[in-house]
Amino acid sequence: MGQKRVLSGVQPTGSLHLGNYLGALKTWVSEQYEYENYFFIADLHAITVPHDPKTLAENTYTLAALYLACGLDPDSTTIFVQSHVSAHAELAWLLNCITPLNWLERMIQFKEKAIKQGEEVSIGLLDYPVLQAADILLYQADLVPVGEDQKQHLELTRDIAARFNFQFGHPKAPILKVPEPLIRPEGARVMSLTDGTKKMSKSDPSEQSRINLLDSPDAIRNKVKRCKTDPVRGLAFDDPERPECQNLLTLYWLLSGKSKADVTAECADMGWGQFKPLLAETIIEALQPIQSNYRDLMGDRSQLEAVLQQGRGRAEVLARQTLQAAKDALGYTRTL
Ligand code: TRP
Repeated sequence: MGQKRVLSGVQPTGSLHLGNYLGALKTWVSEQYEYENYFFIADLHAITVPHDPKTLAENTYTLAALYLACGLDPDSTTIFVQSHVSAHAELAWLLNCITPLNWLERMIQFKEKAIKQGEEVSIGLLDYPVLQAADILLYQADLVPVGEDQKQHLELTRDIAARFNFQFGHPKAPILKVPEPLIRPEGARVMSLTDGTKKMSKSDPSEQSRINLLDSPDAIRNKVKRCKTDPVRGLAFDDPERPECQNLLTLYWLLSGKSKADVTAECADMGWGQFKPLLAETIIEALQPIQSNYRDLMGDRSQLEAVLQQGRGRAEVLARQTLQAAKDALGYTRTL
């Protein structure tokens, strides 16, 4: 009792990279005992763009294993697969019917992704944010950790919940909890290795732009060696003219575990030739325990399956309650 409920999800597409880790997972882990957590794998969202059935299941396992490998504790955090809890799709339908079309047409992410796909764009892609609203509202989440790119989706979730409550609830007994964003302190925005002004992203066509959590030491050395820098000697934080320097120094700061002041002093007179190998080895060392946990987990699927099974059980209890309350409010007959 008393702990706020936090919920978030990641799509099982592409591999997780340092941006996902430092921007999300690392904090999920370090704050997991302060909240009641629901972290899931958004595999229904993963088919809103063309996908390969052969890799969907594998990517789902990989992502679940990475959640655990990064340190999520399945005894205190509910970890589950979205498609295992059918209430997500069911609540999404109910919410579809109270969501005005033009709320979805103005979503920035839809517009961006739709442009890429042209004529092929699916209804699912347009509807993506309503499914996301269902994910959040099913669990009556208090807080949703959001990055910049998901802010608009959380706003929409709040609008949908408020509209549902207004139309079908009683002012004193809302049916769906209106969630708040959980905004994290500085330092967590990791940028591309090929352009320090763009976010590190799974969907960037260049592998060189990101470091994946499962990259080998050699791949990491190579990517760091070739990453974009600038011609200035001496490295410093907070120079708006030097986005790459800011990004690489921040990576070193966050992954070395040193204080910002120590890093500032240590790197003040360094050139890139000296800094890059230092950064590469720091990244390799920071990822080593995650990679070794990951290998153990993938070597024993039964443990992974047990975690997902348990997560599904816990998730379903809450999801079923909310779905029933929503159906009651909409006037559906109950079955016994
Ligand atoms: N759209 C999110 C992303 O791409 C993934 C997601 C799906 C999600 N459902 C969610 C995040 C619910 C938070 C809450 O990152």
